[in-house]
Amino acid sequence: MVVFQVARVETTPFDGQKPGTSGLRKKVKVFIQPNYLHNFVQSTFNALGADKVRGATLVVSGDGRYFSKDAIQIITKMAAANGVRRIWVGQNGLLSTPAVSAVVRERVGHDGSKANGAFILTASHNPGGPHEDFGIKYNMENGGPAPESVTDKIYENTKTIKEYLIAEGLPDVDISTVGVTSFTGPEGQFDVDVFDSTSDYVKLMKSIFDFESIQKLLSSPNFTFCYDALHGVAGVYAKRIFVEELAAKESSLLNCVPKEDFGGGHPDPNLTYAKELVARMGLGKTGNESEPPEFGAAADGDADRNMVLGKRFFVTPSDSVAIIAANAIEAIPYFSGGLKGVARSMPTSAALDVVAKHLNLKFFEVPTGWKFFGNLMDAGMCSVCGEESFGTGSDHIREKDGIWAVLAWLNILAHKNKDNLGGGKLVTVEDIVRQHWSTYGRHYYTRYDYENVDAGGAKELMAHLVKLQCSLSEVNGIVKGIRSDVPNVAHADEFEYKDPVDGSVSKHQGIRYLFEDGSRLVFRLSGTGSEGATIRVYIEQYEKDSSKTGRDSQEALGSLVEVAIKLSKIEEFTGRSAPTVIT
Ligand code: G6P
Ligand code: ZN
Repeated sequence: MVVFQVARVETTPFDGQKPGTSGLRKKVKVFIQPNYLHNFVQSTFNALGADKVRGATLVVSGDGRYFSKDAIQIITKMAAANGVRRIWVGQNGLLSTPAVSAVVRERVGHDGSKANGAFILTASHNPGGPHEDFGIKYNMENGGPAPESVTDKIYENTKTIKEYLIAEGLPDVDISTVGVTSFTGPEGQFDVDVFDSTSDYVKLMKSIFDFESIQKLLSSPNFTFCYDALHGVAGVYAKRIFVEELAAKESSLLNCVPKEDFGGGHPDPNLTYAKELVARMGLGKTGNESEPPEFGAAADGDADRNMVLGKRFFVTPSDSVAIIAANAIEAIPYFSGGLKGVARSMPTSAALDVVAKHLNLKFFEVPTGWKFFGNLMDAGMCSVCGEESFGTGSDHIREKDGIWAVLAWLNILAHKNKDNLGGGKLVTVEDIVRQHWSTYGRHYYTRYDYENVDAGGAKELMAHLVKLQCSLSEVNGIVKGIRSDVPNVAHADEFEYKDPVDGSVSKHQGIRYLFEDGSRLVFRLSGTGSEGATIRVYIEQYEKDSSKTGRDSQEALGSLVEVAIKLSKIEEFTGRSAPTVIT
């Protein structure tokens, strides 16, 4: 057995190692600076404390983006030196974020071990490659992102770090082959366990969904399917689950070979970036396309996000979670006993609220960031949750789950079509959504993103809106001056959340303007960008009258959009006359 020693290496702090909504994300050129990653990893070990780190089992893997392989070797050596007992690595360093969460919660090692936490190497939906982004975040024993108390400690440590520990004499480990390699250090044995990236996750999915019915749907001649992984890690799971388990055709997979640079694309599943899928689904402006598939979906780089499409039809993420919640008990075996509660993030539309009311379910509105759902789930208060930012999931893990969301839709479709397979007219994605609107009303919804704007300008804009929200009469004066057909603002505030489980309070979570008819304007700064600032404007209008739920959403929201742009003086503060992305 190879024997290694522990080296203590002197280092000095780097500025700006504060983890954002979802870990530390920076350009690769920042991460590859000598000691940069080392400092962050050692600061994490120090924040966890030696008693938690010594003897621990840690998962280290990610979406396979550029620099991941180097990072895995560095983290492995540092873990060994810090007394970690074993490292679990998905084959080739690949594990989707939801699969990491599943592995932490479910996997049992060959020696009966269970994981204590995980380093996830991803910058999620941000582009990858030598000139793009890398990221790292730490997840806890429940499989969910570290809470702020831990990430704050990590950040404090990064400001004072003086040395890190690293194993000397430990060779690079072959992560392309499944198997366990053992080494010996000053504190005893250290194992690197490389395992199949999909099997634990697949097992979990099979315990949740009715795979037999979904397989029947996917092999029915009148149902066609398409999945775009945008060259992220979802491709690995899509092949295994949709093709090998559920008998979808290989040709239904687009961009399902993971690439370090995501093929040069932006691995974010929305109407702007998932171009190929959007065209295939007949939503592009090509005109003479062949008949689009009945169902299409895409994932982001680390496969926790999802976009669901029907033939020539876009399902907003806010509607998606509401529709899953409305149908879960009937269609999805995991939920047949009922839902413990449902939750959405504040900027997500209120479509879920209406379902919760109808079904008499516990309901929570939390700040942006999946970790807030985790607390509710750990306390048994929430089964299904979602966010406008293309995140949907349930309490089967503690991350959002892109493949889960697709399986949920397929399971609902399979359930609704159980008598229509083999030919004839199917209940389509569009039918399900329109039916939902006519039962519950429709929340017209759009989000305008102003990416990479000057951080100073963005701050000033937010300060302007915070000040404005204090005086409703002033706000209403301005609103009426912009569009007299828009109802009055009945309430405005800066969203604040008191966690019902641990009592912690999160302030400054976005500015809300709530109108008398249930419409909303929400403004917040993104917590996930890696350069400058990104301003997000969320615009929503509720329509109960079922004869008016079929309009084009940009048209229906026209007046509110104009109010949002002028009220916030966005052009004045940022110099931008148009958003970068509209979803
Ligand atoms: C990540 C988190 C999500 C959150 C999103 C917000 O994806 O996992 O829970 O909704 O970031 O991103 P933003 O850029 O709006 O802060
Ligand atoms: Zn992601």
